[in-house]
Order: sequence, then structure tokens, then C-alpha cells
Amino acid sequence: MASKDDSAAGVNLSRRNFLKSTGVVSLAATVVAPGAAAAQTGAPVVGPGEVPVRLTVNGRQLNLTIEPRVTLLDALRMRADLTGNKRGCDRGACGACTMLVDGRPVYSCSTLAIEVQGKQIRNVEGLANGNTLHPVQQAFCDKDALMCGFCTPGFIMASVGLLEKTPNPTPEQIRKGLDGNICRCGTFNRIFEAVSSVKGVQRG
Ligand code: FES
Ligand code: FES
Repeated sequence: MASKDDSAAGVNLSRRNFLKSTGVVSLAATVVAPGAAAAQTGAPVVGPGEVPVRLTVNGRQLNLTIEPRVTLLDALRMRADLTGNKRGCDRGACGACTMLVDGRPVYSCSTLAIEVQGKQIRNVEGLANGNTLHPVQQAFCDKDALMCGFCTPGFIMASVGLLEKTPNPTPEQIRKGLDGNICRCGTFNRIFEAVSSVKGVQRG
């Protein structure tokens, strides 16, 4: 398990901690109990009906009208046709839905869209520049680091988050940085090889 003072591990631990914290914030933001909970937390009461939610996704404004309970994954996949990141477990266990929020990998299936307003959200569809793949995407192709490809967008986003923070990770840092993601086809060695081969990733 990752140590807390390891930079690559920090990415992963942050993701798990983020999941825990979002559970608390989600509850505060969505419970509709006039007075009680909201008065205690000071959080605004919203919902359960649809409310305006403004997201910044891949550098673009996205104005949605959704219920506060809608996850970031569903908001992008179901309301914005951004289907690059996949739904695997839908419970914060597989990493297929991994996106970057202010540069940090998060499980978008376990993050409410309403919580990440005002933050920079990136999914796999924001990586390529026209027909030019992001270096991490290119490395996955060059190293044949996928079989069915279902886990690949999540692995790529987690890898981008890792490399932006730790440009030259050690093998151990790569393993720790990606240990929130699962590949059921078992392409781990090639994924690690691909991430190791990437040089010069800039902060997004
Ligand atoms: S679909 Fe989100 S972690 Fe599995
Ligand atoms: S390539 Fe199939 S799950 Fe990873």
C-alpha cells in the first residue's frame, strides 16, 4: 500500500481520500431537510429537482441542468456526449472512470458533478491535439498496452495525473500511482512500460 509521503502515492491516496470526502460533502449538499442538516453544516440546500450546474471540461464551459445527485461520470456521458471515460464498477473500485479534477485523478463515478463546479475537469477526450495524440496515449499505442481497451481511458488519465506531478517516476512510483486502476485483461506490465517510456509531459 502506498505511503503517505510518496509523491506518486499521494496521487492515489488523494483519490481515495477524495472519495471519502466527497461522500461527506455530497450528503451535506444534497440532503433536503429544511433546517436540520443544512443549518448544522452551513451548506446550501439544493435539489432534489434539477438545478443549473456549470462545469469546465477540457477548457470549455458546459452548462447543464441536472439533479444534484448526478455524478460527474453521468453528467459527461449522458448529458454531454463525452463518453470516452467508461463505467466499470460504478462504485469507486476499478478506475475506468478516472478523470482529472484540478490535476488530481478522481473516480468520476463517485464524484458529484455539482461538487466540481469551478474546477478544471479533464477527461480522456481532452488530451489529443487534433490528430496528434497526447504522449501518454501515443505510448499506450506504441507499447500495445491494451487488449479490450475498456480500462484504458482511466489508466491514461491516471497516468497523465501521475506524470504531470512526477515527470520521471520510478517503477515503484508508477505502480503506486496507478494502483487505483484495474485491468481485467492483465496488461499491467505493458501499461507500466508505456508510462515509463513517456518523457516531457507538461502540467495540463
Ligand atoms: S466505474 Fe468508477 S471506479 Fe469503477
Ligand atoms: S485492456 Fe481490457 S480491461 Fe484492461
